[in-house]
Amino acid sequence: MIGVFDSGIGGVTVLKELLKLLPNEKYIYYSDSINNPYGDKTNEEIIDISDKVVEFLINKGCTIIVIACNTASAIAKDYLRNKYSIPIIAIEPAYKSVLDDEKTLVMATKATINSDKFKTLFNKYDNHNTILLSCSGLADLIEEGNKDKIIEYLNNKIGEYKGVKNVVLGCTHYPLIKEEISKVLGPVNFYDGSLGVAKHTKEVMEEKGLITNSKQEITFIDSSNNKEDLFYELLKR
Ligand code: DGL
Repeated sequence: MIGVFDSGIGGVTVLKELLKLLPNEKYIYYSDSINNPYGDKTNEEIIDISDKVVEFLINKGCTIIVIACNTASAIAKDYLRNKYSIPIIAIEPAYKSVLDDEKTLVMATKATINSDKFKTLFNKYDNHNTILLSCSGLADLIEEGNKDKIIEYLNNKIGEYKGVKNVVLGCTHYPLIKEEISKVLGPVNFYDGSLGVAKHTKEVMEEKGLITNSKQEITFIDSSNNKEDLFYELLKR
């Protein structure tokens, strides 16, 4: 069974790619909405929360974990990999997929932008024409689902970057608002890490003999209020 987790419903963008590549598997999707947002927490808090989620998923029978959250991946993946023996797959902002030196905007949580992991990635692939923008509060607005508030936030936050060519969506919630981002910025090329992480998960599962080829099952668990309806609606979209 594949355990997928995020601080909320954002990781659905990763789960959708996993389902395309690995349709015949059993999944638990854990939405840790009681702790949302992860992106404004300290590293210690993020590690502690992620650790508890992973332990919970392993106790439920997961044999591989996909961290469908850039923040938890950047901050907690090394700790989790040291502690647990099952494969822990992590996502990162798809900055290395930007292959030109056109103006690029990287949007991610504060914790991701400030993380050593992201700094290392950025320094390696720096196209020398990039703005790094931590978008505190945006994941919460996406959870809340109020489009007007999202547009207002985006106008204030990214309105001044109209004309950028590339936008890296460095938080798994952000692909859910591509349309709204395009409304504010105009046509841009989007980059997100969900397909890459799904491909990597498949490779690891093949290599470790974890593919079960069973009937697809998706169990949704939310640590606070039940967002089940929204979750299944997003899965279908
Ligand atoms: N979806 C998460 C990510 O990819 C984080 C959102 C949050 O701040 O909780 O970073």
